[in-house]
Amino acid sequence: MNTMLLHCRPGFEGEVCAEISELAAHLDVAGYAKAKPNSACAEFICTEPGGAERMMRKLRFNQLIFPRQWARGEYVELPETDRIGVLLEALADYPVCGSLWLEVLDTNEGKELSTFCRKFEKPLRAALTKAGKLKDDPRLPRLLLTFRSGREAFVGLAESNNSALWPMGIPRLKFPREAPSRSTLKLEEAWHHFIPRADWDKRLAPGMTAVDLGAAPGGWTWQLVQREIKVTAVDNGPMAESLMYSGFVEHQRADGFTFKPRRPVNWMVCDIVEKPARTAALIETWLGEGWCQEAVVNLKLPMKQRHAEVQKLLARIDTGLKARGLKVSIACKQLYHDREEVTCHLRRL
Ligand SMILES: C[S@@+](CC[C@H](N)C(=O)[O-])C[C@H]1O[C@@H](n2cnc3c(N)ncnc32)[C@H](O)[C@@H]1O
Repeated sequence: MNTMLLHCRPGFEGEVCAEISELAAHLDVAGYAKAKPNSACAEFICTEPGGAERMMRKLRFNQLIFPRQWARGEYVELPETDRIGVLLEALADYPVCGSLWLEVLDTNEGKELSTFCRKFEKPLRAALTKAGKLKDDPRLPRLLLTFRSGREAFVGLAESNNSALWPMGIPRLKFPREAPSRSTLKLEEAWHHFIPRADWDKRLAPGMTAVDLGAAPGGWTWQLVQREIKVTAVDNGPMAESLMYSGFVEHQRADGFTFKPRRPVNWMVCDIVEKPARTAALIETWLGEGWCQEAVVNLKLPMKQRHAEVQKLLARIDTGLKARGLKVSIACKQLYHDREEVTCHLRRL
């Protein structure tokens, strides 16, 4: 049970390997990472007893940038018939679990397998419950079964309060038809990921103020307006008319990189496609000058060395803000709705 399986966006396996290897070295856990290109997952093989469990205990899942989901466990080969019997045997050494998720990888084969998983889940759940291996208790570890095919599954464990919020790290968000662009889901997902639900009414409260840099046509502004937040939408492009009728939006045709708010705002959000170093400097200015309390900003990724570049920019922002004597929490994640980018969240403490 000493391998970690980490799901990710296809094409980002190398970033996951680099990130988890760096963290393992930092925690002094011996092991190595491996991944096949475009497999939508990476493995970290721990070469010391209990290494995977120690890593998952010491790390907070929501601090990882590229992994969408993680679990510690091992691969089990499954026969054509009586898969449940073989899984029960494999689970003999596993603790009793408090919930069960059946997962697949974010690949075409994975999509094909999800129908099988849906059919398999009910009898499996019943058999695990009957065998005393599954109870309904969030304090117990979650059993995560990732199917690579109908003949092979990774039988993994993760704590329900220290792993992805949704199976495979894929949020179940419905695209609101009135929103002006699909990007709207990116900001909604960011809120789910970075802000505990219990804080939404306090930190995304009616009457708050926000600046949306690179706002057009208005998917992010739409999310803010839904929460009755007053938005200054900065973009030379046109905003969706429906949003302008809401009475919550002021459109400023200006350059987001030189725009300065008349008075500090609660939120700055930015979805401008720009070189990441320039966006990172913008983040530092907004938080550093006290122009906003919190920010959600998209950082576009370079073609190569994406993990190293993100780490370098986050460290630069952190150093810059500390040099100003400020306490700011900084988090970063490649969200499901992010493509060649990551999303950063910053909050002045
Ligand atoms: C990806 S789109 C934003 C989509 C928007 N978040 C939404 O949900 O509808 C990027 C926007 O940034 C704007 N943009 C690019 N450079 C800009 C700049 N320097 N200042 C302000 N806006 C800029 C573009 O006009 C474009 O509308």
